[in-house]
Amino acid sequence: MKKYTLGMIGLGTMGRNLLLNMADHGFSVTGYDKDPKMLKTLEEVGQKHNLKGFSSLEDFIQSLELPRRIVLLVPAGAIVDSVIKELEPLLDQGDIIIDSGNSHFTDTSRRATELSKKGLHFFGMGISGGEEGARFGPSMMPGGDKTAYAAMKDILEAIAAKVNGEPCVTYIGPGASGHFVKMVHNGIEYAMMQLLAESYDIMKNGLGYSNEQIQQLFDKWNKGRLQSFLMEVTASIFTFVDEKTGNLMVDMVKDEAKSKGTGKWTSQVSMDLQLPIPTINEAVSSRDLSKFKKLRVALAEAFPHEINIPENHQEFEAQMEQALYFAMISSYAQGLHLLWQASNTYSYELDLQEIAKIWRGGCIIRAELLEDIYQAYKANPALEHLYMDANIQDKLSETISGLRKIMNVAVNNGLPVTAFASTLTYFDSLRTKNLPSNLIQAQRDFFGAHTFERTDEEGIFHAIWNQITL
Ligand code: 6PG
Repeated sequence: MKKYTLGMIGLGTMGRNLLLNMADHGFSVTGYDKDPKMLKTLEEVGQKHNLKGFSSLEDFIQSLELPRRIVLLVPAGAIVDSVIKELEPLLDQGDIIIDSGNSHFTDTSRRATELSKKGLHFFGMGISGGEEGARFGPSMMPGGDKTAYAAMKDILEAIAAKVNGEPCVTYIGPGASGHFVKMVHNGIEYAMMQLLAESYDIMKNGLGYSNEQIQQLFDKWNKGRLQSFLMEVTASIFTFVDEKTGNLMVDMVKDEAKSKGTGKWTSQVSMDLQLPIPTINEAVSSRDLSKFKKLRVALAEAFPHEINIPENHQEFEAQMEQALYFAMISSYAQGLHLLWQASNTYSYELDLQEIAKIWRGGCIIRAELLEDIYQAYKANPALEHLYMDANIQDKLSETISGLRKIMNVAVNNGLPVTAFASTLTYFDSLRTKNLPSNLIQAQRDFFGAHTFERTDEEGIFHAIWNQITL
């Protein structure tokens, strides 16, 4: 009986496309899905490679080479646990399960520990790039047992996106590090999307630009240093016509943003690790705030305001480009700073240079400026914060004035620019030698005797701030 090199569980679009990608690269692969429709689709689209799947889990497992390589592409959450439960009795020691959904890293950690007790390897692997990426080259972030990774390396490197011939996949680190890095990738994705949305708002409601003008500007930016997948996507959204109405589809989409949770998880973890990522936080909150449509409509009526934007639009556009550039760098900087902290806290041994490198292609946050970021970590793999790199500092100094000007105009005109604003105040806080936090400490000690440290002497102190006679 023919033995397959790898098996996929979950033959939805992502799983199917990933299998097709592997088959294109000459790997003998198969799949399993409970739903016969999924098996039929796999057979149809995989005719060229004679791709077939199984409807019996036992037969599927028996058809795989040892050690078995089993990729799960099922919805994150309880389904992953139930699939593992079904799989476990059918597997042999040394087999590898790779969960490729957007699972929470603490779930991955728990599953890896439980399965390792049974001699099974469990990998949490973030995959980015959507359906097209899965089919033609995603960026992948696998984390788990390093020796088990050796059994997956060739397949993953073959199917990954390539930048300058280098695959957009690398061994991320032990434990749940793969899913952790993918979660932070998504946090950065949220920030970038919010910055693009705020730019759109400034153009639409500030400058009064038409959709065509907006499209042209996004397209122009995408041809320069702001080139990125998300910029490209955004520009092309402004060309898509709704057949029902003849309007641009973007005008027919409700202004209430949804999310599946990875952005929120990034913010939650950043609070736990006490490592600020305000642009990402604001991107998460802005999506949530958008859902209060009724309230927004009522308050828009209660607080109307005039818009008065500078006449020189050309200059303003150049400032917007600078502002976006500054804020995009800062979004990556915050995400990478969080990874730096997590690597220390969870002993993930993350190589930020490698992470920046594999994000250059295939994934949703791929962008021209990741090349500079990659070079920054290449020059100094121990870099604590991206803002400390000399080349990045030049770029920040060159573009900060644009961000300040945009902020002035947006704030004076009542335009909501939460991600831009938090980026600016984040930067200003970080480059402030003496913050007013001494006053916070004094207040804490005043009303709660929480103690403080002094500037001139080591130790813990308490002052009797109010000489109340009881
Ligand atoms: C990717 C994407 C992918 C997905 C997000 C969407 O890297 O390919 O990030 O994982 O599009 O999960 O997340 P929201 O639904 O939360 O926006």
